[in-house]
Amino acid sequence: MEEEKILPNHIGIIMDGNGRWATRRGLKRSAGHKAGADNLEKLLKHIFNLGIKYVSVYAFSTENFNRDKEEVDYLMNLFVKYFSSKNKIFVKEELKVIFSGSKERLRDDVKESMAKLEENTKNFKRGVFNICLNYGGRLEIVDAIKKINRDIQDNKIKIEDINESLVSTYMYQNLPDLDFVIRTSGEIRVSNFMLWQGSYAEYYFTDCLFPDFDEKEFDKALLEYSKRNRRFGGTK
Ligand code: FPP
Repeated sequence: MEEEKILPNHIGIIMDGNGRWATRRGLKRSAGHKAGADNLEKLLKHIFNLGIKYVSVYAFSTENFNRDKEEVDYLMNLFVKYFSSKNKIFVKEELKVIFSGSKERLRDDVKESMAKLEENTKNFKRGVFNICLNYGGRLEIVDAIKKINRDIQDNKIKIEDINESLVSTYMYQNLPDLDFVIRTSGEIRVSNFMLWQGSYAEYYFTDCLFPDFDEKEFDKALLEYSKRNRRFGGTK
């Protein structure tokens, strides 16, 4: 009998292992980030073509600012270049690009390239690509608490209004819960990625390093998801 395919609505990817991918080839870590960015482009095309609606990726955590200045600068330059040069692709694919994270410590040119990409793609409906940049899951919750407190003081909401669905609307973006989270490179940790949205997600850990995590590897992960989902399907 043919396997029934159950697609996740929102998937998250912790893109880990770029540095090791490069080091193993005798290359600089930056070459790994470039290979990761190239892989991400192919992977996104594949994922949205399958009909998945929401994709969130962990591009840069708040903790990543503790890396060497050279690597942080390289990544920031890569982001600026990627957001402007891939603009056409997101428009052609009709994908809405949004960002989650704190704007503090980000360079002006990075913030400008983010704002431009968001503006240029804001009306697209085929899929949503959420990029977590300068992101921390605990910080997102702390920021939400501050915003809620402000709205209480401004009489926009009352304490009695606070429940899980209201709190969800105070996250950086109003996104559906994550169904499936993939982490590459063998680390079995969540590392502060979308804690609120991932509470009920299925998690998948693979030794494959992110630049090698291609369409075939993704399909393998998806098959695992469909099996897990089917096992618990009756209780949803
Ligand atoms: C983790 O690998 C990866 C990052 C900190 C950066 C992720 C960025 C990309 C894939 C670049 C493209 C992204 C966008 C949105 C353009 P690591 O460096 O921690 O690898 P390691 O654990 O092997 O050192």
